Amino acid sequence: MIRNQDTPGALLDPTDVRGMFDRIVQRYDLMNRLMTGGRDVAWRREAARIAIGSGADRGMDVATGTGDLAFELHRQGIPLVAGIDFSGGMLRAAESKRLSAGTKGVTFVQGDAMHLPFPDATFDALTIAWGLRNLPDYAAGIQELARVLRPEGRLVILEMTPLQNPLLRRAFDLYFQNAVPVIGGIISGDWQAYRYLPESVGAFPPAVELAGMMRGAGLRNVRYKLVGGGTVALHIGIRN
Ligand SMILES: C[S@@+](CC[C@H](N)C(=O)[O-])C[C@H]1O[C@@H](n2cnc3c(N)ncnc32)[C@H](O)[C@@H]1O
Repeated sequence: MIRNQDTPGALLDPTDVRGMFDRIVQRYDLMNRLMTGGRDVAWRREAARIAIGSGADRGMDVATGTGDLAFELHRQGIPLVAGIDFSGGMLRAAESKRLSAGTKGVTFVQGDAMHLPFPDATFDALTIAWGLRNLPDYAAGIQELARVLRPEGRLVILEMTPLQNPLLRRAFDLYFQNAVPVIGGIISGDWQAYRYLPESVGAFPPAVELAGMMRGAGLRNVRYKLVGGGTVALHIGIRN
């Protein structure tokens, strides 16, 4: 169901978002590799590196999906990492990866990013990759992420961002709005999910606006770096 929005947030209701990710989980990782030419792996690696900074004891990856960024935070040195998601299907896939790799320092938790089941100031590194765009209220979601960050802790948001150059945007939209739904539809069997993806990116606020929301949530040194030819942004902020 399309949401009636009075604050900037996802185009779909949370229940529909969860159902959609439960349906596409089988081919989710494969579709990511195909759509980004495998670059998503390097972007997650960079997100983890920035979130860790000079070191972190406790990390969390929110909207973790199949868990890749949670594993990356652990691989890069955080001893205890939580991965949280509200989709049972995605979490089962993440847990099965964890079991086959025998990873001990990562725990997956089912929960809502809008109401994280952790006390204030619990984590010193927080990441969310391609998850914020699916939350019902972006500003409130960022505030909830900031709430569980310790002072000096780092938040990294990895997310699609609307291209600012109109010519490049038209060229990218041709690929994104036409090819992605077809490839996604054929590979995942879920045409609706891969139509929602370009629609949700088209409606997503520009990086400067998101930076404003991060400052409004009590984060400082807010900045962002564009990757993927300007189609993806790594947003960074430090908790006051
Ligand atoms: C596009 S996937 C990203 C998965 C993963 N972060 C990655 O890097 O591939 C978005 C994920 O956000 C999760 N999600 C969306 N809204 C959520 C919410 N309110 N609370 C928890 N998880 C949510 C979905 O279940 C899905 O697994």
